[in-house]
Formats: sequence, C-alpha cells, structure tokens
Amino acid sequence: MKYDFNDPSITVALVGAGGFIGSHLLEAILERTQWRIFAVDLDFHKVQQHLQNHRIEFLCEDLEEPSVLKKISSYPIVIQLAAICTPSRYNTETQKVIESNFLTPAALAKACADSGSWLLYFSTSEVYGKTSSEALLLEEDQSDFVYGSIHASRWSYAIAKQLSERYIASLVHLSWTILRPFNFIGPRMDFVSGLDGEGIPRVLASFCGALVKNEAMKLVDGGKAQRSFTSIHDAIRFIFLVLEKPHLSKQEVFNIGNPDNEISIRELSFLMQKIHAEITHKNPKEYKSPIEVSGTNYYGKGYEDSLRRVPSIQKSQKLLGYLPTEPLEKTLKESILWFIDHYTPIIENQETQR
Ligand code: UGA
Repeated sequence: MKYDFNDPSITVALVGAGGFIGSHLLEAILERTQWRIFAVDLDFHKVQQHLQNHRIEFLCEDLEEPSVLKKISSYPIVIQLAAICTPSRYNTETQKVIESNFLTPAALAKACADSGSWLLYFSTSEVYGKTSSEALLLEEDQSDFVYGSIHASRWSYAIAKQLSERYIASLVHLSWTILRPFNFIGPRMDFVSGLDGEGIPRVLASFCGALVKNEAMKLVDGGKAQRSFTSIHDAIRFIFLVLEKPHLSKQEVFNIGNPDNEISIRELSFLMQKIHAEITHKNPKEYKSPIEVSGTNYYGKGYEDSLRRVPSIQKSQKLLGYLPTEPLEKTLKESILWFIDHYTPIIENQETQR
C-alpha cells in the first residue's frame, strides 16, 4: 500500500510533535504533503506558530491514558517520537526512563497492531550500547549489543529501547519500521539550562548554551568520546523516503546517520568555538577554556559512555536510496546562529530584570 502525499484524507499521528525532531517533522509534513496531523505532546512551545493551523489537531495529554492510545492508533500512520532522551536523566530517573521508553511504546504498539496502523518507531543509536573506541561501523542487522552492569544505570534507556524494538518485531499483526537516530542536531534542539529548562541537555545544546552565556564548555572525561552527528534536515529527508516507500521500509530496522560527520567531543568544542567567533567576530582569546569533568561528577553515579558510534548506511542506501548531504560545519553554523537569535533576547531580558 502506498500513501499519497497529495491525499488530504490521510491523517498522520505524530506522537512527540512538540519535541526537537517532532517540530521539524511537523513542518515538513505541512510543507511537503496535503496530510492532516494529529499532534500529541505535553508541551507545544517549539511549534507554537502552528497552533492555529487548521490541518493540525493538537492534544496535550499523557500517553498513559488508554483513550489517548486508542485515538492515536485510529490513524493509518503513527510516528512515535515521544521519549525521555537526555542522558543526564538515565541514571537519575531510571524508573521513569524505562517506563517512557518501554511500557508506553509497547502499549502503543499493541494498540497499532489491533487497529492496523503502520508504526514508525523512533528507537536510538544507543541500542548498540557500550561501544569501544575501536568499534567498527554499526550495522542494523549484524552488530551485537553490549550494555554495562545493572549499577551502570546509564544503559536503562538503551535497554528499554532495545526491548521495545524486540516487542514491536514480535507483534505478528503489526506493520512497523524501526528507526535508530545517530545524534541528530539542528535548531531547536533541547534547551539551555537556566533559560528555558533545567539540567544537562545533549552536547550540541550544552555547548551552544555555554557559547551564548559566555561560560566554559564541560568536557566529559576529557571529551574523548566520538559521535557521528546527523543534520536534522538529512534526518527529515530520510523519514520521507521511508514514508514514500512503505513496501521497502515495513518490517525493517534502519540507522539514520551520517558516517562522514564523525568527530571527538573535544574537537567539537573547539570547532563550535571557532564557528561562533566567525559569526560574532569575538576575539578567540575572550572564550573561557573548556573544563574537563568526570562523567560521574557531571552526570552522577551510574554514568558510562559509548566511545565510538558510527552508523553503517549501506542498508538505507541500497533499499531507500538515502545519501546524507549536510556537512557537520554547515549544521553547526545553522544551529549556533539559531541559538544566538533565540536565546540572546532571553538573556538580555533576564539581565534588565536584575
Ligand atoms: C544521546 C541520547 O542518549 C539519545 O537520546 C540519542 O538517541 C542519542 O544521543 C542521539 O542523539 O542520537 P549521547 O550521544 O551520549 O546520547 O548524548 P550527548 O548528551 O549529546 O553526549 C554526547 C557526548 O558528549 C558524550 O560523550 C557526553 O559525555 C559528552 N558531553 C555531553 C560533554 O562532554 N559535555 C556536555 O556538556 C554534554
């Protein structure tokens, strides 16, 4: 079955529509299709400019409510993005993290199996677990998963996601696609601590926050871990390939990533500082040097890390024709510009109120 992008009778349920990925996907669906959107989340401030759009029905409710799951699964396509997904919470709110990343998605998957909806489930690159600095390209259907001990509660999220994947794949009547994002970055990611949220956001938002507040970036365990960052625009293009080719994407697991954008966190901090200086013409000497912190001191007991995480994109190239096009520096520039534009007025407002 194909889903015609020009068919206005199709409604897609977007669960987690108010988050970073959800907000970009919502805009892309509005721009590239005639579909209607059933948008579910607990917070819609990232999509507030669309609140009056007649093509969207917004629902601000918890997924634990059975009537909400029933309504979501009444639509032919369900995209599930809602999750607690910031590592600083994995070892401090472990029970909640497991519930939000296993119990809730499992209940939604069951509802979709009963109703016949196609479930696009956003899992995570973290399912590959505690990868070493020598880890090879991670392959969807080949790589093994290794996690730390029960006391290393950092892995609670990865394990909950992995169990959700297995549960979804076990439901014989469910049409599903499992997507594993590799460190998506772009405008609107997470929050800046003390300005519109509390705690530690993921690294792009954390470093952008330090740049706009003129604070020192924190390098966890020397910033030796490496990540492959993916532009949110490449990610959205990928999701559209999946939606366009259900005959090739159903009952499959895909990495969404860009192996060319690999960098260590230490190098990332210097690159972001360099780009920020180019944008603002600030003297490089005015930046505070990054501070090295241990993972346990920064995130608390139970934190461990994945040292290298590079996606294989062979499967998605072969099946879907996916090729990422956005280089790291371009996406960092776009993101830093967005953080400057968005947060500078908030900082100035806070200063005048002091
Ligand atoms: C995260 C989340 O677990 C998942 O939500 C998600 O699927 C995945 O990234 C992703 O974005 O695809 P992680 O890559 O560890 O995992 O997330 P970050 O918090 O962005 O950390 C990346 C690296 O930067 C880690 O080594 C971390 O220790 C380091 N870091 C982070 C710093 O050195 N300083 C900071 O201020 C923040």
